[in-house]
Amino acid sequence: MDKSSPVANAAEPRSGQHESLTITDNRTGKRYELPVTNGCIRASDLRKIKTADDDFGLMSYDPAFTNTAACASKVTFIDGERGILRYRGYPIEVLAEKSTYLETAYLLIHGELPRRAQLADWTFHITHHTFLHESIKKFLDGFHYDAHPMGMLISAVAALSTFYPEAKEIFNAESRKKQTYRLLGKMPTIAAFSYRHSLGLPFVYPDNDLSYTGNFLNMLFKTTELKYRPNPALERALDVLFILHADHEQNCSSSAMRGVASSQADPYCATAAAAAALYGPLHGGANEAVLRMLLQIGSVEKVPEYIRRVKEGEVRLMGFGHRVYKNYDPRAKIIKRTAYEVFDVMGRNPLLDIALECERIALEDDYFVSRKLYPNVDFYSGLIYQSMGLPVTMFPALFAIGRMAGWIAQWEEMLADPEQKISRPRQVYLGYGTREYVPVDDRG
Ligand code: CMC
Repeated sequence: MDKSSPVANAAEPRSGQHESLTITDNRTGKRYELPVTNGCIRASDLRKIKTADDDFGLMSYDPAFTNTAACASKVTFIDGERGILRYRGYPIEVLAEKSTYLETAYLLIHGELPRRAQLADWTFHITHHTFLHESIKKFLDGFHYDAHPMGMLISAVAALSTFYPEAKEIFNAESRKKQTYRLLGKMPTIAAFSYRHSLGLPFVYPDNDLSYTGNFLNMLFKTTELKYRPNPALERALDVLFILHADHEQNCSSSAMRGVASSQADPYCATAAAAAALYGPLHGGANEAVLRMLLQIGSVEKVPEYIRRVKEGEVRLMGFGHRVYKNYDPRAKIIKRTAYEVFDVMGRNPLLDIALECERIALEDDYFVSRKLYPNVDFYSGLIYQSMGLPVTMFPALFAIGRMAGWIAQWEEMLADPEQKISRPRQVYLGYGTREYVPVDDRG
């Protein structure tokens, strides 16, 4: 197959060949032929399989959607067995080496790499939408001093919806473009303001002379200097981290974005939902959990004891394992390299040795090998953020900044898809049948 041509998920369709699945229902003895397209049957075709005319029809039961495609997508391709991740056909390794976050965001959202003038225009508009309304600043000020930045970020993004009521016009391309600039532009500002608030430091306004990540560093770390000059190595490291986090097809937060936006909610509310999904320790909160775990382990000598507890099911080795990657997470390899580049500037993170020892033991241990558990994107990202001087509570917020591009790309794709409607899974009801109401005094 031509390398540049579109690829279907698991099974590539053989063009012109009709593929099907024959099912025999042993309850009735009837046979059904269901078409197979792109390696999938349509779940709704199962409804034809009935035991009687008034039977609802067969459904598939798939808690946590482990084997259900809820959409067709052209944004991101993952082959978990072979450790492949591509955005719009471009390997993640190439983008991490050659692209920038804003260019990658353009690629994800528009489907093609921008020409020079398009990139300049895109960068200009995002850069000019980084300011927050002063009332959002006051809103952030209302949080307790130790509020978790993710709680602040989720709330502030939802609050943006009240500032831009035209965002409800989701079928208006011009309106969507504007909200896209705002979301990409304002996420770093909200995250940085949340951080400054936790320290009781004054907020630093965006500096349009700086790059996307340079400005973010400025808003995080500027103190009394008249002009903040970001360290180019840290600026680039953050850019690479944002590229690596930019999309990951139908993960928990992107599914939340699609699910909430499928009710035609505006993109700020949908983003708040996606960010809330990201916050959990099994998803974007894992980078925070990894750091806490490394701190809890405390020293290289104590790693075997921790691994023993993992194997006994007491705790998890955070930053290990992935629903999709069963070989290695290609993002983890790039991040490990980036980590060393950051340590060259900031000094070696003392937790690195503990992380390396965890990785060494886990990669040799049958518990992890047999379950195909390898380091994921979050295993090293936290060490980088910590070396840059960020507290662990900021880590998921950094993930959210990068993932914003993917959330928008998934949202746009969903809106353009004529097959999508409001998200509404089915259930298997296993509760009571009709029960008779008993007045409170008569209950035994
Ligand atoms: N440590 C120890 N055991 C694990 C781990 C782990 N990190 N991950 C999975 N297992 C075991 C699990 O106990 C189970 O064992 P058994 O078959 O004996 O019951 C087996 O491996 C399969 O696990 P699972 O929970 O069924 O796998 P899943 O696909 O539902 O979970 C996961 C994927 C990422 C939630 C899980 O691997 C995990 O909790 N990892 C730690 C949290 C983490 O690092 N999350 C970040 C994911 S990458 C960032 C992102 O994309 O969000």
